[in-house]
Amino acid sequence: MAERMVLMNKSVNLLRLGFFQYQLKPKEKFLDANQSFVRISGCTSLQLLKRKTLSQIITNAKDYSEFIKVLNKKKQVKDFKTTILGKTKKPIWVLISARLVQEKRNSRYLDGVVQDISLVKSESDRLLHEMDFLQSFLDHMPDAIYFKDVKSRATKVNKFYAQGFKMKPEEIVGKTDYDFFPKDQAQKMIEDDQRVIKTGIPIIGKIERTLLPNGTWNQVITTKVPIYDRKGKTIGTMGVTRDMTEHANLEKDRFAMLMNALTVLNKAFEMRDPYTFSHARNVGRIASVIGEKLGFSENRLMGLRLAADLHDLGKLSVPLDILTKPGKLSGLEYGLIQEHVEKCHDLIKEMKFPFALSEIVYQHHERLDGSGYPKGLKGSKILFEARILAVSDVLESMTSHRPYRAALGIKKAMQELKSGAGKKYDSKIVNTVEEIIKKNKGQAFWSDEK
Ligand SMILES: [Fe+2]
Ligand SMILES: [Fe+2]
Repeated sequence: MAERMVLMNKSVNLLRLGFFQYQLKPKEKFLDANQSFVRISGCTSLQLLKRKTLSQIITNAKDYSEFIKVLNKKKQVKDFKTTILGKTKKPIWVLISARLVQEKRNSRYLDGVVQDISLVKSESDRLLHEMDFLQSFLDHMPDAIYFKDVKSRATKVNKFYAQGFKMKPEEIVGKTDYDFFPKDQAQKMIEDDQRVIKTGIPIIGKIERTLLPNGTWNQVITTKVPIYDRKGKTIGTMGVTRDMTEHANLEKDRFAMLMNALTVLNKAFEMRDPYTFSHARNVGRIASVIGEKLGFSENRLMGLRLAADLHDLGKLSVPLDILTKPGKLSGLEYGLIQEHVEKCHDLIKEMKFPFALSEIVYQHHERLDGSGYPKGLKGSKILFEARILAVSDVLESMTSHRPYRAALGIKKAMQELKSGAGKKYDSKIVNTVEEIIKKNKGQAFWSDEK
């Protein structure tokens, strides 16, 4: 026994492993221990340790009786987790393993090993604390937060996400967006995940509409970022989705109010100058069809339509007798008419729109080659929407009756647009208009009158 203790002392002190031999019968006492155990138990010497019992060393009395109970039953105890009083009288977390040895009838001994796991324990406590913190953060966030693997299967989601589907977070794990959303919607979401994984480029603040299980559509804003392992390999994505429906509805209401105000303004415009009003309405119809054909989003189409409706509103500042003058205009009169773009820009520039409304209106008489007004802008300096307005404006004007001339017809208008395509007008837009007219058998698609 003594030899074994010497070996223990030499080889394992550094491992913070304490070894001890303990007598249970006839009287409880420590028989021997290595230096590590003496130190772990908080004693300054083996002699002092020998004056103590195991029940005095193990801090919790319940733990001690449980330890003895298991030992009596199984003759051994493996990795029994408890605390013992250390040098500073502060409990130290340890694992005790022991084997019962019965040498004589009335004597019982223990061979025991104690491992100081206080460092491991405090590290795991710290990790647990961090995980608790993270979990609490995830569970209290009023946003859907979800982690997915490289195959877009959920690996972890927060409560908010799960509640949206009336499920528990753990029930979502392993599922994909196909399990919760309509097929085309899920496909888009998974395509986004895969693009983030493939390129490493996050998707930030994407606005999308999602169909909830209760059948309502929600407007949400989503951010997705790649997640990596320690070696920098992409292991999936993390996404945060915020419900913006209420906010979007509020914005919609505000926008509707603004649109109502503009409608009133337009009505006044119609009363004063029905000809220009009807022209603007037709330009709006033409521009919308072009935008639709070019695949514009709903919002972009709305902006284009609004810009078209308002594009000549600045003519309110031009005297009616000039606007309706049958003969040729003088240089001064023409200058006054040209001012309508700036007047309109001034009227609407302070209004906040989710698109560059005032700029589109301001540029509708600009031409790609710089021959337009008011700035003589060239090429890409002219907004695409303004180029659509330019083409729509020419098409509508040339096919309408004017106080100074009769309508010229669609053929003439198309000749003008095609001869100016790539010079004054955007070729793509001119080609689109040509296609639409062809499809409409050469007829005006914006008004029944032509
Ligand atoms: Fe104009
Ligand atoms: Fe116009």
